[in-house]
Amino acid sequence: MRHLLSVADLGVDGIEEVMRVTDSFVEVSERSIPKVPALRGKTIVSLFYEDSTRTRLSFETAAKRLSADTMNFSVSSSSVKKGESLRDTVLTIEAMGIDAVVVRHASAGVPWQVANWVDAAVINAGDGWHEHPTQALLDCYTIRKEHPARSLAGLHVAIVGDVKHSRVARSDVLAFTLLGARVTLVAPPTLLPPSLEGWPVKVSHDIGGVLPDVDVVYLLRMQKERQTEALLPSLREYTAMYGLTRRRAALLPDDAIVMHPGPMNRGVEIAAEVADLPRSVITRQVANGVAVRMAVLFLMLAANPKEVAVLDG
Ligand code: NCD
Repeated sequence: MRHLLSVADLGVDGIEEVMRVTDSFVEVSERSIPKVPALRGKTIVSLFYEDSTRTRLSFETAAKRLSADTMNFSVSSSSVKKGESLRDTVLTIEAMGIDAVVVRHASAGVPWQVANWVDAAVINAGDGWHEHPTQALLDCYTIRKEHPARSLAGLHVAIVGDVKHSRVARSDVLAFTLLGARVTLVAPPTLLPPSLEGWPVKVSHDIGGVLPDVDVVYLLRMQKERQTEALLPSLREYTAMYGLTRRRAALLPDDAIVMHPGPMNRGVEIAAEVADLPRSVITRQVANGVAVRMAVLFLMLAANPKEVAVLDG
């Protein structure tokens, strides 16, 4: 695997391999010193043109736990403010000698462009509304660990909310269905993509009807910064029709889990107390995210990824 741009680059075998290697890194993360020398001497750059808390810190932590050197690029304090183009910025950074670039950008397709310009490995950390493959990987890993079925095959996942603007939804639908899950999108028509042709999903506008039948309910934030028109009468109305309130959460089967990629808007798509229920695995998604990103960086950059011995402290 040279780059990780889309879940489609991985296929079922690639996802399975990342899951297997993630198990080793979960074990590493539980050690008193959660650090291995696997990527000593490698340099990984975060190139984030959009705000991020989780994804940026998660990649940075993953790189550090693998003993890689990290560089952080932040648009607000860079020469982008002086008019430097994306291509010149990328070539400047590459000239310093780097092994991988983790890219987040508001425009779909930017990680593919970057991959054409550099020799370094490129990882898509979210491009516009398009894809967010490492989020999908950590979501698959979390479902396998947290749902009693320990597998996605045959599970029913409802993805609820602003699917239209969600790169997480696009990558999750690809990954969940590749691993054999059924997916139902639950949203008002204005928050669904204009065409769902080719999406292997069902659609519902009735959350109360769907919840009793799901194994996983995956909530999405209203991505207002990506919306250019008024798609909803009001957030209150959205919460009334689609929010995971306590009353609605009680409709879930006993072993169903609640997921969210973050950042959450408590009181909008998810009631504050539902986010804190034992069945809500949102912070475990974050914890697994570090191990999944360690696995991805390791598989892409280690001299010999088959050599498990490098995981010995
Ligand atoms: C998401 C993102 O930025 O794509 N968050 C994340 O990476 N965990 C989802 C969002 O912005 O709502």
